[in-house]
Amino acid sequence: MSHIQRCSPMQRWMLVAGLSAIVLGVLSVVAQQNLAHTIRYPKGYRSWTHVKTAILHPGHPLYNDFGGIHHVYANDKAARALQQNAKKFPDGSILVFDLLEAPTENNATGEGKRKVLAVMVKDSKRFRETDGWGYAAFAEGNPQKQIVTDMKTACHNCHAGQAHRDYVFSEWRP
Ligand code: HEC
Repeated sequence: MSHIQRCSPMQRWMLVAGLSAIVLGVLSVVAQQNLAHTIRYPKGYRSWTHVKTAILHPGHPLYNDFGGIHHVYANDKAARALQQNAKKFPDGSILVFDLLEAPTENNATGEGKRKVLAVMVKDSKRFRETDGWGYAAFAEGNPQKQIVTDMKTACHNCHAGQAHRDYVFSEWRP
């Protein structure tokens, strides 16, 4: 009687598979972009292990983003991995890059206002897309001002040069 056009089971299956792929794709992009916002401000990091300090002066290629004085801190897990020169940092490792202005007065360079607090968190499942590291940055060190939206382009692509040291630059000095 009525002539309703019907899909074959195969066509129906392909339609469902196609739609699911689109939905999953969109969801994973959204999840990826929001991942940095899931990283918590590293409360208490000032009492963690101090790893190193360095000052970048005008003229350094990274001066625009990282000019000033920075201190690197590691939580217990990350500090142990650094001290043992481990090939991999265990899940739960946290590293902090605390960047402050570095004003010079009377021939002495000191610490000024905090510019940004950058954080790396190791969680090999959650951050699989960035080789196990999650990245976040808090403007002026304000826990409410997380500014990273794309961990890969903003952070990980540069750290990728350190793949042989699990994406970490800082080394432990005795
Ligand atoms: C252009 C390259 C570059 C980019 C982009 C970059 N970093 Fe780094 N990062 C470095 C270098 C170089 C060091 C080592 C600094 C030192 O040795 O004093 C470092 C150090 C760190 C450290 C301390 C642990 C380590 O690897 O030594 C953290 C934490 C960190 N960065 C987080 C971030 C976050 C978060 C972002 C994105 C907002 C980011 N970085 C973007 C180059 C980069």
